[in-house]
Amino acid sequence: MDKIVSLCKRRGFVYPGSDIYGGLANTFDFGPLGVELANNIKKSWWKNFVQNRSDIYGLDGGILMNPKIWEASGHTQGFIDVLVECKKCHKRFRTDQIEQDLPAGRQECPDCGGELTEAKKFVPMFKTFVGPVEDSASIAYLRPETAQAIFVNFKNIIDSFHPVLPFGVAQIGKAFRNEITLGNFIFRKLEFEQMEIEYFIEEKDWKKYFEEWEKEIEKWVIGLGINKKNIHWRKHDKEELAHYSKHTEDIEYNFPFGGFKELYGLAYRTDFDLKNHSEKSGKDLKYVDLKTNEKFFPHVIEPSFGMERTMLMILSEAYCEEEIKETKRIVLKLKPALAPIKAAIFPLLANKPDLIKKAKEVYEILKKEFPTVWDDRGNIGKRYYSQDEIGTPYCITIDFDTLEKDDVTVRERDSMKQERIKIKELKEYLEEKLNE
Ligand code: GAP
Repeated sequence: MDKIVSLCKRRGFVYPGSDIYGGLANTFDFGPLGVELANNIKKSWWKNFVQNRSDIYGLDGGILMNPKIWEASGHTQGFIDVLVECKKCHKRFRTDQIEQDLPAGRQECPDCGGELTEAKKFVPMFKTFVGPVEDSASIAYLRPETAQAIFVNFKNIIDSFHPVLPFGVAQIGKAFRNEITLGNFIFRKLEFEQMEIEYFIEEKDWKKYFEEWEKEIEKWVIGLGINKKNIHWRKHDKEELAHYSKHTEDIEYNFPFGGFKELYGLAYRTDFDLKNHSEKSGKDLKYVDLKTNEKFFPHVIEPSFGMERTMLMILSEAYCEEEIKETKRIVLKLKPALAPIKAAIFPLLANKPDLIKKAKEVYEILKKEFPTVWDDRGNIGKRYYSQDEIGTPYCITIDFDTLEKDDVTVRERDSMKQERIKIKELKEYLEEKLNE
């Protein structure tokens, strides 16, 4: 884990938040490569779960919403963390997490072994105020889940698109939680991105669709390049269930800190949300089956994905150290579609104008197509290793033969095999490889 954190900072994937002011716990900023990786994750998710399907509609709801939404959704009363504080070192912990980390029955500070205070309840939603007056009438919350924007737009989607059950609404967006336990790097942040789907169904079908979604989630995770042995499902017991859920299972990933931990949640939310919003807003949020004229609240299966946990999983899975002729190389074996940079252009020598001119031509062709970088520092071996560390799948060297034959050396990251490819065929060659 330390190696991944260090690589992320050194190479510009993830920086600690507010670093020059000593940081702010559980906040992080994405550097240039982190932004690309995050965008690739979100693009892959949106393509797979929205664009490739005909039963899912996209939405982008607000972060700030009417506070009545959080009463109707049960968050102001039911979205609660239970905290304890160490009497000795004064660190605070969530009781559910201490229970996971300590042997059964032991209740002591996981850091210093000190005695813990009585448990206290706490609502981890961030409050803010809308307008110039900071009173109880102007309170608003930063959303702790993107899901509620979907429920409150349910009628809008029905009126605009007339979808027939089963159908889903998907959203990618920021969510905020006042997390008090120190997270493991980007695993637990104050501000994170969720990729959520509310899939509306008839009550009788909940089990069938729950199982279908388990398979869909697993397929997507494996498609990201994750080994099946590093994931498993864990069912929530009754005490652990969120206030809105009748049945939840988490898909867990074998993270490099502390083993299997929650990656995503899959919940059967029943008709809890639509029913409550209908009651509290006074608006009819029932669905009408046009074949039978039956009117009812659809039930909901909710696959909920965390973008940052996806990123941490992908980085953990891809990170490799290899011995090559007594030198160590660090390589991120990312799927090409996820790699922040797709190709790097190397002129063999930085002080030969003919080589530089030709290499710039190749660089300009590829840069228009996908993220491509230029590197003319040091020797070629060092440039390869530098690109391996950030997962660039292809490095392209322009040498003296290029000037005569108009071809280049393309070196593949994982196998380190090299091939000569004609410049006029290079774009198509790479496009094909990157889409594999
Ligand atoms: N709408 C359902 C919901 O929000 P959740 O299990 O609380 O369910 C869903 O959150 C997912 O969001 C988690 O499985 C995780 O991937 C991600 N997540 C939750 N809290 C997070 C945090 N503080 N930092 C990063 N990701 C988080």
